[in-house]
Amino acid sequence: MAKQHIKLTINGEERELLAEPRELLIHTLREQLGITGPHIGCETSHCGACTVDLDGKSVKSCTVFAVQADGAEITTIEGLGNPDGLHVLQETFREHHGLQCGFCTPGMITRAWRLLQENPNPTEEEIRYGISGNLCRCTGYQNIVKAIMAAAATLNASKEAAE
Ligand code: FES
Ligand code: FES
Repeated sequence: MAKQHIKLTINGEERELLAEPRELLIHTLREQLGITGPHIGCETSHCGACTVDLDGKSVKSCTVFAVQADGAEITTIEGLGNPDGLHVLQETFREHHGLQCGFCTPGMITRAWRLLQENPNPTEEEIRYGISGNLCRCTGYQNIVKAIMAAAATLNASKEAAE
């Protein structure tokens, strides 16, 4: 099938490319654009390792065709922070041992980032529900939840200090 020309804004940068109609967004990100933070776990929308933010919503990029994302704004873990300037969530995951093998971590943090924008003061239960689409095969949920709660507290404290 003929490739289609699409435009994506990824982590603030406009990218134009050709995608086959059957091409999944996760493959476009990783193979065409070299954005390898989002991982491929199940490819059947169960694990959440491929989570990215698409126009303000967390999506599993193995369930979206690249052509469906034409014109969208996408944020991946690469857009949240980098080794020289970690995002608060990346700091708190490190401090609270919110990762073991790290395979789920990019998707988990990208989801948590959106969750904290949807609900800046989540309860533990709301966090557990909010990340229920992201599986951690190392089963480190206790510390993942602690890390997200700590990030919420830090973000709220800096908001108050700025007011
Ligand atoms: S790889 Fe997309 S949900 Fe598992
Ligand atoms: S830290 Fe290993 S899968 Fe989550």
